[in-house]
Amino acid sequence: MSAIVQSPPREAEFRSDSPHESARAHVTGEALYTDDLTAHYPGLLHAWPVLAPHAHARLTHLDTNSAAQVPGVVTVLSAKDVPGEADSGANRRDEPLFPTEILYHSQPIAWVLGETLEAARLGALQISAAYQQLPAILSIDQAVEAASFHSGPFRIRRGEAAAAIAGSPHRLSGELRIGGQEHFYLETQCAIARLDTSGGVIVDSSTQHPAETQEVVARVLGVPRNRVTVECLRMGGAFGGKEVQANPWAAIAALGAWKTKRPVRVRLPRHLDMALTGKRHPFLAHFNAGFDDDGHLRGVELKLWSDGGWSLDLSDPVMWRALFHCDNAYLIPALDATGYVCKTHKTSQTAFRGFGGPQGMLAIEDILDRIARTLAIDPDLVRERNFYREGDATHYHQPVKDAARIATIWEQLKQTSDFVERQSAVRRFNAAHADVKRGIAITPVKFGISFTATFFNQAGATVLVYRDGSVQVNHGGAEMGQGLHTKILRIASQTLGVPPETVRIMPTNTGKIPNTSATAASAGTDLNGAAVVDACRQIKDRLSAIPGAENMTFAQSVEAAYKSRIALFAQGYYRTPGIHFDPQTATGKPFHYFAWGAAVSEVEVDGFTGEHRNLRTDILHDVGDSISPAIDLGQIEGGFVQGVGWLTLEELLWDADGRVATAGASTYKLPSWPEMPSVFEIAFLERATEPGVVFGSKAVGEPPLMLAFSVREAIRAAIAAFGPGNQVVELDSPATPERVFRALRAAQGDPIQ
Ligand code: MTE
Ligand code: HPA
Ligand code: CA
Repeated sequence: MSAIVQSPPREAEFRSDSPHESARAHVTGEALYTDDLTAHYPGLLHAWPVLAPHAHARLTHLDTNSAAQVPGVVTVLSAKDVPGEADSGANRRDEPLFPTEILYHSQPIAWVLGETLEAARLGALQISAAYQQLPAILSIDQAVEAASFHSGPFRIRRGEAAAAIAGSPHRLSGELRIGGQEHFYLETQCAIARLDTSGGVIVDSSTQHPAETQEVVARVLGVPRNRVTVECLRMGGAFGGKEVQANPWAAIAALGAWKTKRPVRVRLPRHLDMALTGKRHPFLAHFNAGFDDDGHLRGVELKLWSDGGWSLDLSDPVMWRALFHCDNAYLIPALDATGYVCKTHKTSQTAFRGFGGPQGMLAIEDILDRIARTLAIDPDLVRERNFYREGDATHYHQPVKDAARIATIWEQLKQTSDFVERQSAVRRFNAAHADVKRGIAITPVKFGISFTATFFNQAGATVLVYRDGSVQVNHGGAEMGQGLHTKILRIASQTLGVPPETVRIMPTNTGKIPNTSATAASAGTDLNGAAVVDACRQIKDRLSAIPGAENMTFAQSVEAAYKSRIALFAQGYYRTPGIHFDPQTATGKPFHYFAWGAAVSEVEVDGFTGEHRNLRTDILHDVGDSISPAIDLGQIEGGFVQGVGWLTLEELLWDADGRVATAGASTYKLPSWPEMPSVFEIAFLERATEPGVVFGSKAVGEPPLMLAFSVREAIRAAIAAFGPGNQVVELDSPATPERVFRALRAAQGDPIQ
């Protein structure tokens, strides 16, 4: 039986911390999500798409009239209904809402609106369409072959990598294939639109980026943005999947409401959500590395190709983040890293926790283990020898502030996890067992915090104080379960000096704060929290200037301020200072700071099946001064497990026709209880105050995902133990039992042909 163990000194702190502000509502089912609002809108229509049955084709004929025969069908939305521009593309106009060229399997070509969902669905089945099928590109290899790219090459260089490799005592080359990942948020994509009472439209949307959803809706309707209001109450998970990919569904709902003057709901059931929406980018990496006798890197050449899918979406910044992170925590003296975004006829791959960082970091971790095996040096030693040290800069010339922190974390974690003793125990276990082998590995994380598009690093807040002393906080961030509102609640109540019960965090609404950035890049609290502090301080300063304020309760001072005609609301604003990046020279300081962490995992691999069990994981992570230990703990656990899913279980498959073959939980294996480590120890780095960040805290949303590298590297160590121990372990990701089995047979010198 699994037992979850937390570090004893922390346990009390986690327990005494306030829970997620909606925890009770989440578990009782009282928390409302966008689709729960349907009951509030009488006359609501339901939308269902007409799907193209090819991955690449020309639409040669479309007749929507026959849908009208189905009772309950109200109308069909097609290109002629669009008053504005029929395109939902966020960063390039390459996402036609009503395409004439089909670019991925099941792409919607029209939408039926019905009095019931069933009517809309049956109506869609009646619609006749004809296609001329075209050849489809369904893999990175085919895209490279056909030179089918959205963009690239993007390139970051330091020094002369080719010469450094040529002059190195040792060299290796290799390839790594990295799979994508389905977000599998519990709440699928959903939007409900209705006309407002004065010529505008209101959209309730499960979106991480309400301002961009507003922009796309306004574009499609051909109206200025001030006529569109987008509200996000909360999301039932998003993980990057609703950063831009919430927009088309909101646009269709809004278009339907505009045309029919009735509320319209678009909600993708799970199988459509998985078939239509983008995923984490699959990557292909090619590398050459040069190193010395001790395992120090001399030079690395890295080429990355990502599968961007049918449209650009966020694939450019995802590739940039992969290039920024292909050093992970290591100084690579000479590096030449290049990235191409492939255009394929698949779902449009998009943001997903880590945003390309995980793929870039996995490449260097793969290389370092190969170096360790080649030299017969323990991988943990090769890793630590290559760590950044104080005074070093990254390949894009950003000084690595607090570089010594990784060594501190590493040493402390090795101690608390008994790493060295357990390494010996694993060796003894392996010597005594022929058919099962154990592996233990420690891996670091360095993750840059900020949007690399510098202008996104701004946020606003409006704080309203009412005469009874109660407070409303509006800010630009959206709640997706990550606990942003819980942290903002603490920030606001502490800054104002009022109990949290008197503070209400409002749903995210474009009518309250304009031009907000996506809640993404882990920066939600950093940005919005700082804006809330700014607003609260202004109010606090005004209140404390009132004569006799020191002897009044908050409510008394508020009433006194009101009577003295002092404004009881304030706008806060924040922009991250000191960051910049020039993509032409690929240099600058794109990140405000780095988040650090490390994990040790020990696994046992079954030589007959390739299956593994995670026996124990120890994590030491840097969250700065935690604003909410319970939330941060949850983010570390959840991020780690989601990373384990990506690296060891979750395998996306597309069939020969380009259809997502794993479009449901029955074929797409998600992590659950058995994949949890039997022993799971998580601690925060102490004395880690981050100056220049709200309350001295650090972003925590994405970095812990990459702590899961420790599991993959432990599996590779166990695979190596099936052979003589010092042979390179080639293992594409995810490390499914099939791949592990093949790899261990190769290690045994008995490869499966
Ligand atoms: N945690 C939960 N429960 N649900 C989510 O959708 N998204 C993650 C992370 N943690 C997510 C989550 C991602 S991808 C990011 S970028 C951050 O939360 C975003 O929120 P933050 O900036 O407030 O940390
Ligand atoms: N994560 C990291 N960086 C980003 C993101 C994200 O979700 N979005 C834009 N830049
Ligand atoms: Ca894409």
